Amino acid sequence: MTEADEHKRAVGFAAVDRYVRSGTCVGLGTGSTARWAVERVGERVARGENIVVVATSAATERQCRELGIPLAALGEREIDVAIDGADEVAADWSLTKGGGGAHFREKAVALAARAFVVIVTAEKLVEKLGAFPTPVEVVPFTLAVVTRAIEIAYPGARVQQRLSRDGTPFVTDNGNALVDCAFGAIDDPAALDAALREIHGVVATGLFPGPLTAAVLVAGGGEVRELLRIASR
Ligand code: 5RP
Repeated sequence: MTEADEHKRAVGFAAVDRYVRSGTCVGLGTGSTARWAVERVGERVARGENIVVVATSAATERQCRELGIPLAALGEREIDVAIDGADEVAADWSLTKGGGGAHFREKAVALAARAFVVIVTAEKLVEKLGAFPTPVEVVPFTLAVVTRAIEIAYPGARVQQRLSRDGTPFVTDNGNALVDCAFGAIDDPAALDAALREIHGVVATGLFPGPLTAAVLVAGGGEVRELLRIASR
């Protein structure tokens, strides 16, 4: 395992150990960090704990099934806590998500949870969002007009349709297309998210407003630390 993977495992395990109680339903995210949280929940279920999971993607659902973790659909159970990775965490705790293309369901689960806990490695911490292009999920029928509308509204932004590794258009779990939008530094992520969602055909963006996040756990330098909301880094 690489050092980066060890950090991801450490923060994924720490979040589950700190925030997941037996007898509850938890939301679990998608990606190479969140998968360790799934792994830890799997260990606890195997030891006999009663934990039910709402998965944020087909990939996470698959991993849960492989580990024998009971699943619930969104809305079926109260979600005590949702745990997920991020591509960027800004100083105000706003996030860029969607590197794995699962941000629509990830946001739905985070919004439904009593608390949303973000797990990252230290290089994901930034002052402002924007170095990582903002993923925008788009109904395929509207792809060309949505792309043009974003380019006109944000001159200088680079808007690119996401492709899969084999070069074919990326398709989300919801059957939609994705465009990755490089806007440069984002001063007001909530306003940008709202403006993009005004464009007919946009389903969701990977911008998560700061107040949604209840806790941020960061792995790096051989430890996992929890950020304080007001503290400087
Ligand atoms: C998937 C996500 C992921 O949480 C995000 O991309 C971070 O992934 P990783 O932990 O693999 O860096 O938003 O849609």
